[in-house]
Amino acid sequence: MSKPRKQIHLAAHFPGVNNTTVWSDPQAGSHIEFGSFAHFARTAERAKFDFLFLAEGLRLREQGGRIYDLDVVGRPDTFTVLAALAAVTERIGLTGTINSTFNEPYEVARQFASLDHLSAGRSAWNVVTSWDAFTGENFRRGGFLPQQERYSRAREFLATARELFDSWRGDEILADRATGAFLRDARAGSFVHQGRHFDIHGQFNVPRSPQGRPVIFQAGDSEEGREFAAADADAIFSRYNTFEEGRAFYRDVKGRLPKYGRSPDQLLVLPAATFVLGDTDAEAAELAREVRRQQVSGATAIKHLEFVWNRDLSAYDPDGPLPDVDPDPGEHTVARGRAQVRMYRDPLTTAREWRELAAANKWSIRDLVIETGNRQSFVGSPATVAKVIDDFVQADAADGFILVPHVTPGGLDDFADSVVPLLQERGVFRAEYEGATLRDHLGLAHPDAATAAERAAS
Ligand SMILES: Cc1cc2nc3c(=O)[nH]c(=O)nc-3n(C[C@H](O)[C@H](O)[C@H](O)COP(=O)(O)O)c2cc1C
Repeated sequence: MSKPRKQIHLAAHFPGVNNTTVWSDPQAGSHIEFGSFAHFARTAERAKFDFLFLAEGLRLREQGGRIYDLDVVGRPDTFTVLAALAAVTERIGLTGTINSTFNEPYEVARQFASLDHLSAGRSAWNVVTSWDAFTGENFRRGGFLPQQERYSRAREFLATARELFDSWRGDEILADRATGAFLRDARAGSFVHQGRHFDIHGQFNVPRSPQGRPVIFQAGDSEEGREFAAADADAIFSRYNTFEEGRAFYRDVKGRLPKYGRSPDQLLVLPAATFVLGDTDAEAAELAREVRRQQVSGATAIKHLEFVWNRDLSAYDPDGPLPDVDPDPGEHTVARGRAQVRMYRDPLTTAREWRELAAANKWSIRDLVIETGNRQSFVGSPATVAKVIDDFVQADAADGFILVPHVTPGGLDDFADSVVPLLQERGVFRAEYEGATLRDHLGLAHPDAATAAERAAS
């Protein structure tokens, strides 16, 4: 008998603070008005997506001491947006990225447990450790932590939050009008946590939420990040969205599960992916080229190069050759608060490879950034894109994708109307929501109260 086809998971990433977003497109709307969030969430829900996803950026990024004005500036608070969306949607999951470096477990656990109640079991937390000390300057805790310490704090943070979620079993509320007893157990929500990073005790004041615990995502890509995900997360948000890289990443992280006593279906791998659709593959390819040129203006190309070079390259012509001078390998001072800075961990090698590529292909700086940067993951007619997504998932390059359109808020509309029906016809994507909670959509077990109580007691 042949293997049953895997069901695809799809999510919608609200576009924003990066130059994937083409804010100059005539169709583009506000990135901060509620109407944009509501439109986006409703489209994703109409298409029966698993969840909506918000990334987190806690400081306006800078380059060369000036705010990076090609960003689409403005990123309102995650919980406020997700709580508002909970009121205008019914089934779609609501995933928020919240860092474990600058917050406290008690407040974050309250926020996610509250969101889980308000949304009737649709909340998820993408735990990140955050990029850099520059971001940390916004906070009382200020001083950033070294990588190891950030992950040590993240693990204890999540473990503590779990203790808080599990501090209620779910059967404590009696509300007996005859006797006047509200609680069956006056110790409901009691917790004591003593550890290296947190030493807290008290009674948690949000009763057990519909999912028991929100779904946990993880996004860091280092060795420590991958181990953290294998030990503790329900899903990974990754950036490996090409076939070969996706398969390698998938094998890697799923291969780490047995040592934590977990099976492959307990950790979903969901890369970020972009797309461009057209009536034909040729039309989509042409459109994709236009979108890339809009995303990478000459000024953006120079700024992108500066992430790697860590030097002021503003005197270079974006339509000219790459700089002869090597990157400055010292502490990164040119671009602050940007993810890409961390992606190029070996700038000298990257610069050498890029020069070779540019020379071989006769590329200018701008061409190189267009060709090597975030190219659209899926380009083609709806039929082509549906097939490629299905092929990737069936070949274990991913369990699904977190889609990032380049236009806000309408960039998902075409995908919802044209690709989703084809995936449904293929029998690999739901035609209706089957369950009520995000755990149901993702096929994840519900942590039951008994397990939680045992865990709390151990
Ligand atoms: C695909 C992906 C998405 C991420 N999204 C965010 C984000 O929205 N906000 C944030 O502060 N960090 C984000 N991060 C980075 C995390 O903060 C991550 O923990 C950080 O890179 C340090 O961990 P690492 O060295 O394991 O990658 C993301 C990382 C990846 C790989």
